[in-house]
Amino acid sequence: MPANNERWTVLRLLNWTRDYFSKAGLDSPRLCAEMLLAECLGSQRIDLYARGHDEPDEAVRGRFREMVRRAVDGEPVAYIVGRKEFFSLPFKVTADVLIPRAETELLVDQAVNELRLRGGGDCWDACTGSGCVAVAVAANVEEARVLATDVSPEAVAIAVENAEANGVGDRVTTAVADLLTLPEAWDHEATFDVITANPPYVADDDEVGHGVDREPAVALRAGPTGLAIIRRLLPQAPAMLKDEGLLCVEFGMGQVDEVRDTIMATGAFYEPEILTDTQDLERAAVARRRPQ
Ligand SMILES: C[S@@+](CC[C@H](N)C(=O)[O-])C[C@H]1O[C@@H](n2cnc3c(N)ncnc32)[C@H](O)[C@@H]1O
Repeated sequence: MPANNERWTVLRLLNWTRDYFSKAGLDSPRLCAEMLLAECLGSQRIDLYARGHDEPDEAVRGRFREMVRRAVDGEPVAYIVGRKEFFSLPFKVTADVLIPRAETELLVDQAVNELRLRGGGDCWDACTGSGCVAVAVAANVEEARVLATDVSPEAVAIAVENAEANGVGDRVTTAVADLLTLPEAWDHEATFDVITANPPYVADDDEVGHGVDREPAVALRAGPTGLAIIRRLLPQAPAMLKDEGLLCVEFGMGQVDEVRDTIMATGAFYEPEILTDTQDLERAAVARRRPQ
């Protein structure tokens, strides 16, 4: 930030940083500036404008400058502040986990509706990462028990913290596991009412956007076409679902036909419903298991 005699008020810091982020090509430059400054001031974003004429002291400005530098250097703001909201709940995030995305809330909607209709039940969130889906489901269905698994021990440790912090640690069982391999930690019935998964689905050679390159490769990449994990996961699901149980899986652009075909090839599901996100992109498949 250039030194001159004007006062560095909250408003001026925000405007200057918004323009700087914009020139640097960051998405949502105003939002990023607000999140970082709110973090440094220990306040809510919404309160920044009421404090617009305050002049933060040099310690706060120094911390803010450092965060701004990291953001322009390509580090996602969620990693810098260490938090991300998902389904209106706060989640701790570190560079070991994918930053939860709004479109993944589709999986939670489906799981919550299904479990409420059933008056509770068991849900397995495979590929849980930060635990965002598992925790949101548990937090919204009091009678639900959730198994949250991931191949990454670092991610599972974060999921444990998030389950505890959101008050559902007693109903979320966490474990390291490869896809739908049932872990010993789960000491309930071995079939589930609902399975959710947001697996990695980006092709190995696909370019990813600003900041996404800082997220763990294991959370993003899935072979030459991005379908390597989904192709393994879907055939495992029938054995783990109760009759009429629901499978909800997120996938990437251009993958809908392969996902639908792989689900139908199991011979265990009715025709899946395909859900679109707020940008009208096909984003998730929801398939109900036929009775055996
Ligand atoms: C796209 S991220 C989703 C994280 C979280 N569920 C979300 O929606 O934000 C995919 C997750 O799958 C995990 N993963 C990758 N390969 C896996 C495997 N073979 N078995 C289990 N989890 C795997 C990654 O570690 C990562 O946490």
